[in-house]
Amino acid sequence: MKDFRDKVAAITGAGSGMGRCLAIQLAQAGCHVALSDCNDVGLVQTLSDVQRAAPGVRSTAAHVDVSDRAAVHAWADAVARDHHRVNLIFNNAGVALSSTVDGMSYDDLEWIIGINFWGVVHGTKAFLPHLKASGEGHVVNTSSVFGLFAQPGMGAYNASKYAVRGFTEALRQELDLMDCGVSATTVHPGGIKTNIARASRVSPSVNGLLVRDAQQGREEFEKFFITSADKAARVILDGVRANKRRVLVGPDAVAADAMARLLPAAYQSLVVREARRKRKQLVTDTATAPARGGERA
Ligand SMILES: NC(=O)c1ccc[n+]([C@@H]2O[C@H](COP(=O)([O-])OP(=O)(O)OC[C@H]3O[C@@H](n4cnc5c(N)ncnc54)[C@H](O)[C@@H]3O)[C@@H](O)[C@H]2O)c1
Repeated sequence: MKDFRDKVAAITGAGSGMGRCLAIQLAQAGCHVALSDCNDVGLVQTLSDVQRAAPGVRSTAAHVDVSDRAAVHAWADAVARDHHRVNLIFNNAGVALSSTVDGMSYDDLEWIIGINFWGVVHGTKAFLPHLKASGEGHVVNTSSVFGLFAQPGMGAYNASKYAVRGFTEALRQELDLMDCGVSATTVHPGGIKTNIARASRVSPSVNGLLVRDAQQGREEFEKFFITSADKAARVILDGVRANKRRVLVGPDAVAADAMARLLPAAYQSLVVREARRKRKQLVTDTATAPARGGERA
């Protein structure tokens, strides 16, 4: 889709981060937007940002939990009715979980798969008939750099994002074969400056193995956030305009992709070596922290 002017885009997880920036930039490009999120405060903020940035476009907002199949299908039908068509669905809503596989509760596992994978499935299946009916459509599904390589403590997140990648790559090929005017792109962001770490769940199982505690784990996670959400949205929209199959967002995503291609299995030992080095550093820091505190006092 070369031009977003006068198209209609639906965006999940539009109340924060990349979803909010996608909404604003699409609206500035003349695209009407249907926003959804389960966080009403963030959603209202995005709606007002969109209306301020692009008063001429039609914008609507709905409270939708993407893990709720019936709610997503009802929202898709409402968007098609209210906006008279839908051209794009950005299945962007997502959450993060740090936990070892061993220490992972089934509750946490079902929570993250329900949002990150089933949310994408619901959004794709609910909107596809409307995209086809529009004659020119695009499905944009957000995976992650963790859909390209795996890391200890990210098993559930990895599983959800690898699943999004497999699902969307198969979908793209089917749509190509169907010649139906609809295409699909998988998005793999690297570390992007958003609220995802602050909203994440951290299981105690990673304490002492990968991080000191939940707070230090979130801070460590955020150190890898090197690209702004605004820049990420620009890269994603350029990728959709170019009808790319895969969009890598940020230099870290490009590096991770190269690593996974060059060392498809061996990269794991490099990751483990780095995790061991960090753990050693953590033990040293923890052992010296009281002494440093004493000096200050
Ligand atoms: N920030 C990163 O470094 C990064 C890296 C790779 C991939 N991603 C992915 O990018 C996407 C966007 O995340 P972000 O970084 O902008 O984070 P964010 O936390 O700023 O935004 C995510 C949004 O999703 C919403 N959401 C969460 N659960 C939901 C649910 N059940 N139903 C509806 N909405 C829900 C949140 O309320 C929030 O507004 C996610 O899929 C995330 O996994 C992020």
